[in-house]
Amino acid sequence: MPKIVFVRHEGEIKEVDAAEGSSAMRAALLGGVEGIVADCGGEASCATCHVFVDLAWTERVGEPGLDEDDMLGFTACERKPNSRLSCQITVRDELNGLILNLPEEQ
Ligand code: FES
Repeated sequence: MPKIVFVRHEGEIKEVDAAEGSSAMRAALLGGVEGIVADCGGEASCATCHVFVDLAWTERVGEPGLDEDDMLGFTACERKPNSRLSCQITVRDELNGLILNLPEEQ
């Protein structure tokens, strides 16, 4: 099962198992990662699952879709070029070891 590494704004690191086909957001919630709120449950309509993809992983993770891109305009912390909504990152084998940095607030 792929693993995803979440790095909190304060520096705390948590590695969680992530089921293939599920989302990085779901893996964070199941793994007890603090700092992912996910108010909308993964519908790309709340922007409270905002993450910054580690720069070594941005190509493999890919670009946000159009709806996600719109919602990234509503994040609590300012959007960066590597911002994604973690509910829209689908877990797959090639993302094993993915590092996602959490913003200061959601
Ligand atoms: S959980 Fe709401 S946008 Fe991702």
